[in-house]
Amino acid sequence: MFSDISESYDLGNDVLSLGMHRLWKKKFVKLAGPKSGDRVLDVATGTGDIATIFAKKVGKGGEVVGVDFSPAMIARARSRAKNLLPNLRFESGDALDLRFASNTFDIASISFGIRNVDNPAAGLKEMMRTVKPGGHVAVLEFGQPSGMWGAFYRFYSRTLLPFLGGLISGNEEAYSYLDETSARFPSGEKFVALMREVGFTDIVAHSLLGGVAWIYVGKVG
Ligand SMILES: C[S@@+](CC[C@H](N)C(=O)[O-])C[C@H]1O[C@@H](n2cnc3c(N)ncnc32)[C@H](O)[C@@H]1O
Repeated sequence: MFSDISESYDLGNDVLSLGMHRLWKKKFVKLAGPKSGDRVLDVATGTGDIATIFAKKVGKGGEVVGVDFSPAMIARARSRAKNLLPNLRFESGDALDLRFASNTFDIASISFGIRNVDNPAAGLKEMMRTVKPGGHVAVLEFGQPSGMWGAFYRFYSRTLLPFLGGLISGNEEAYSYLDETSARFPSGEKFVALMREVGFTDIVAHSLLGGVAWIYVGKVG
C-alpha cells in the first residue's frame, strides 16, 4: 500500500494537512533535541522528511539513517536527498528487526509510522535497543481530538480525507486506512502509559492542533 502511494505521498501530505505536517515535523525534530555531531535513526522514514531535517541539525560531524520497509519509499527518499546532505543515507529495513547494533544512536525517531507497526510496543523496544543510554526515542503520531473540534475533524477524516487522498493518489483505500488506524490508536496519556511500560523515563507528550497529532519523547536508560 505504501509503495503504491509513494509517488504522490508528499503532495498528499501537503494538500491534506494544508501544509501543516511541515510545521509539525520541524517541531518534532526540535523536541527530540538533536545536537551537532549526533547519530540519528529515523524509522518508517517514508520519503525522508524527518531524516532530512535531522541531517541539517546534526551537521557534518553527525550521521542520519532513514529506514523503511517500502523499497519505493526508500527510492523516493534517496532521489529527493540526492547530492543534498552527505551525512544522510537511506536503507530498507523493518521497524521490528532493525539491522543496527545496540547502543548506537543518540536519537531514534518514528513519524506517522508506529501505528502501522504490527506490534507498537515491540517496535518501541527495538528502537530503544538501538539508542545509547541517556539518548531519546521520539514518536509523532495521530490522535483523536475531542468535543466540537473532534466532531469536525472526524467528519473531515472519514469523508473528505479519503476522497481527496483517492483523487491525489488513485488509492482511496490507503487514506481510509489512515482514518481507521488513527481513530483507534492509543494517544495522549494512553500512549505515554505504553512508553512507560516499555521502559522509557522522563516522557514528554505534546499535543498538536487540539489532539489531531501528538509528539512523544522518552529517555532511554
Ligand atoms: C505514513 S508513512 C510516514 C512516512 C514519514 N515518516 C512521514 O512522517 O512522512 C508510514 C511509513 O511507514 C512505513 N512502515 C510501516 N510499517 C513499517 C515497518 N514495520 N518497518 C518499516 N517501515 C514501515 C511505510 O512503508 C511508510 O513509508
